[in-house]
Amino acid sequence: LWLMAAMAFLGYCLGSVPFGLILTNLAGAGDLRKIGSGNIGATNVLRTGRKDLAAATLALDAAKGFLAVVIAWIMTPPDFAAPITAVTALAVVFGHCFPIFLGFRGGKGVATGLGALLALSPLTGLVGCAAWLGFAKLTRISSAGAIAAFVIMPVVMLALHDFSFQTSPKPMATLLISVLVLARHHANIGRLLNGTEPRVERKVK
Ligand code: G3P
Repeated sequence: LWLMAAMAFLGYCLGSVPFGLILTNLAGAGDLRKIGSGNIGATNVLRTGRKDLAAATLALDAAKGFLAVVIAWIMTPPDFAAPITAVTALAVVFGHCFPIFLGFRGGKGVATGLGALLALSPLTGLVGCAAWLGFAKLTRISSAGAIAAFVIMPVVMLALHDFSFQTSPKPMATLLISVLVLARHHANIGRLLNGTEPRVERKVK
């Protein structure tokens, strides 16, 4: 149990690192919090006009999710790998959404969740990435891609594993990550429903 707590803590701390804010601050690309949606994720970094920084934010936010789960997997004896990596995946996304370094006001968990789920279940993560890219490209709306991905991934995970609360930590974590990511998109979902969600653009003032 202490190992699970330690990995959850590590995941939370890694998740808490806001790469979007760090990169835009370092590059002097403006205050993300005052641009576009005010979110700290790659989509909003793109609205500063810096495609390179947006790509780096996407990669680093995904990498911290991936890395947290891989570290947990390496540290854990095989018998406990499933529950501990599952809890770590949830913790890293939680850290991104509620980071200790930003007074718990963080991001929406899309890149970090995709990274964590790629490590937890590569097939699920790949389907999620494909859904995210496909829907985002089709609609030109980033949040639409994210919502599609996080609706589809728990379904894929459930199809790959038997589901029971005791024996299915990975589907359970996937379900909880999706609920968290979708809840973080409540404002986006409202705008999608009334047709005011902005399309992906290079620069928004
Ligand atoms: O990655 C978050 C994305 O789905 C929506 O971001 O900035 O358009 O609210 P944003």
